[in-house]
Amino acid sequence: MDWTLECSACGATSEADGLRTVCDHCGAPWLVRYARKAPPPSLKSALAARLGGMWRYREFLPLAPDEEPVTLGEGSTPLLPAPRLGARIGLADLWVKDESVNPTGSFKARGLAAAITRAAIAGATRFTLPTAGNAGVAAAAYGARAGAKVQVFAPKSTPKPLLDQMTAYGADLVTVDGHIGDCGQLSRAFATENGAMDLSTLREPYRIEGKKTLGLEIAEQLGWTLPGAIIYPTGGGTGLIGMWKAFLELIAAGWVSGPMPRLVSVQSTGCAPVVRAYEEGKSACEAWKDAWTVASGLRVPGPLGGALILRGIRESHGTAVGVTDEQLLAGAALLSGLEGVDSCPEGGAAVAAARNLLSQGVLAPDERVVVFNTGAGVLYGHDFK
Ligand SMILES: Cc1ncc(COP(=O)(O)O)c(C=O)c1O
Ligand SMILES: [Zn+2]
Repeated sequence: MDWTLECSACGATSEADGLRTVCDHCGAPWLVRYARKAPPPSLKSALAARLGGMWRYREFLPLAPDEEPVTLGEGSTPLLPAPRLGARIGLADLWVKDESVNPTGSFKARGLAAAITRAAIAGATRFTLPTAGNAGVAAAAYGARAGAKVQVFAPKSTPKPLLDQMTAYGADLVTVDGHIGDCGQLSRAFATENGAMDLSTLREPYRIEGKKTLGLEIAEQLGWTLPGAIIYPTGGGTGLIGMWKAFLELIAAGWVSGPMPRLVSVQSTGCAPVVRAYEEGKSACEAWKDAWTVASGLRVPGPLGGALILRGIRESHGTAVGVTDEQLLAGAALLSGLEGVDSCPEGGAAVAAARNLLSQGVLAPDERVVVFNTGAGVLYGHDFK
């Protein structure tokens, strides 16, 4: 294995073999550090000739040359210019990264493909995770693909089509009268009692590596240049942390020149622990009480990776911003109606944030801005629109 693990908080290091969870010393998430030679920029043309999917970036990923990933063809999603939406909200160079077209209908496919690939190689045959919806669907599908059993804990309030997808892929589903933090406690207890591997956000090191491919893809799709700002709807934060790590690795390896895109974290005003911590200048998030938003993926009251999210935002000179449910629903309707993208409510939050940040002068009208549609609206039953 040509990588090791480094604690994101205390700097402790560890071998990466076997099934790894969080830092043994302080409980913070691990980050993967590659010992291999950084992929040379001369690889760009060979990359262009490869077939699609996120594993085409394997030189940046935790996979040995003789290993095969557990894959359903995730990644290589379109980065779409959004001229009509841009004209409506006042941004002349607006793009949408449309993750709704991934296998399992969301960007969660990337992280779970990477996590389940490594876990399956290490011998895991049983998984458990808490989910706001889309991660559970992805875990169920990739678990099936790996021939493993999957247990999912989801809040009762999760949209029904998402719950139905989990059981359609053969997962055992328990719905919980509580939020994702409550589901997390049940999942950890299940893991201990049943010897299942816990795939919770940032409780294993590889979901971040899968999400890194979001950043690699955006850079490649823009001809190995970086946009001015990326607006990302944030719950547990793996996507934002993954992109931050991707851009650091790309810049360090000389594939792109900086500065890093400003990473903008969007949350609902009904559950905004990252926004509050950012505004108060804190370096970690405190749990949000009575969290509620129609955007189920943003209902994460106390993200384990809060410190890493805040680091990514600050190091990239980005920001964190809350939007109301009314604004995010209007944003989703605009993205679907003007561009034909199947917007989920979280994607609508990114659109609403772009609009607000432009009116506040945080974004410039001609700046290159990428908004994320993280999943498919159809999986929310469209009741939200
Ligand atoms: C559609 C959607 N968008 C955004 C998020 C938040 O993602 P992250 O946990 O990477 O912040 C989720 C998480 O469940 C989601 O399902
Ligand atoms: Zn540590």
